[in-house]
Amino acid sequence: MEASVFVLMLTLLVVGLDAANTNRVYQPCADAKIQRSDGFTFGIAFSSKDSFFFNQSHQLSPCDRRLSLSSSSNSQLALFRPKVDEISLLTINTSNFFPDSYGGFMVAFAGRKYAARSQPAFVANSTYIVTSFTLVLEFQKGRLQNLYWKRDGCASCKGKSNFVCLNKQDCAIRTSSCKNRGGSVDCSLGIQLAFSGTDKHLSVLNSWYEVENMRQYSLYGLYSNLRDSLTSQYNKFF
Ligand SMILES: *[C@@H]1O[C@H](CO)[C@@H](O)[C@H](O)[C@H]1NC(C)=O
Ligand SMILES: *[C@@H]1O[C@H](CO)[C@@H](O)[C@H](O)[C@H]1NC(C)=O
Ligand SMILES: *[C@@H]1O[C@H](CO)[C@@H](O)[C@H](O)[C@H]1NC(C)=O
Repeated sequence: MEASVFVLMLTLLVVGLDAANTNRVYQPCADAKIQRSDGFTFGIAFSSKDSFFFNQSHQLSPCDRRLSLSSSSNSQLALFRPKVDEISLLTINTSNFFPDSYGGFMVAFAGRKYAARSQPAFVANSTYIVTSFTLVLEFQKGRLQNLYWKRDGCASCKGKSNFVCLNKQDCAIRTSSCKNRGGSVDCSLGIQLAFSGTDKHLSVLNSWYEVENMRQYSLYGLYSNLRDSLTSQYNKFF
């Protein structure tokens, strides 16, 4: 993982020259203390559920070398640097990346001494793919404390015939409906971010509050800069 992180960092440095940014930590496996409007780097690792556990019992951060995710050919890493307290939708294009070929689960993570990681979330297997997620980043005094997947118990796909509700929590599409898999749907992943808690000046991060209030609407409709292929198909569904 170290090598791929390094390569991606070079690109992040170029886009990271933002006047409002005071956070100079661009590495996901390092500790940052943020204020509102800073950029914040975190990673999402894709692999099998088991590979996120040490000795099959302790879930560790993907930054922890004991997991050997870095040397595993069966894992993939995506890095993001959203602006703190801004509602953002991250997308991962799946036209050349099938999450099910990398174990089908993902974990969001950041930090080293103050390492935080989410629980593994099911993304895909050969039958189903979940394409829509909400990730909450919770800070206390500017330090990341917790990352968790917020679920709505399939409320967003109730009554939609294209979706199957898995384990009463995830709205999934049949993999066979996806482009390159015999179907016509762009099964790229959309990850809605929300921030909660406080920054280093104890200012309250409240994008989470806004997401809660908008949950009833299709969040995808808010992203005019998203590619039409993704937004229009979700407009059809939701
Ligand atoms: C791994 O788990 C087994 C069984 O729970 C335990 O006996 C062993 O000490 C553990 N090894 C390490 C390195 O924690
Ligand atoms: C795919 O995952 C779903 C939901 O966890 C499960 O019901 C199904 O049996 C899995 N299919 C395969 C082929 O593993
Ligand atoms: C994913 O990439 C393919 C090929 O480059 C493109 O046609 C498609 O529109 C992309 N999807 C999204 C959601 O950006």
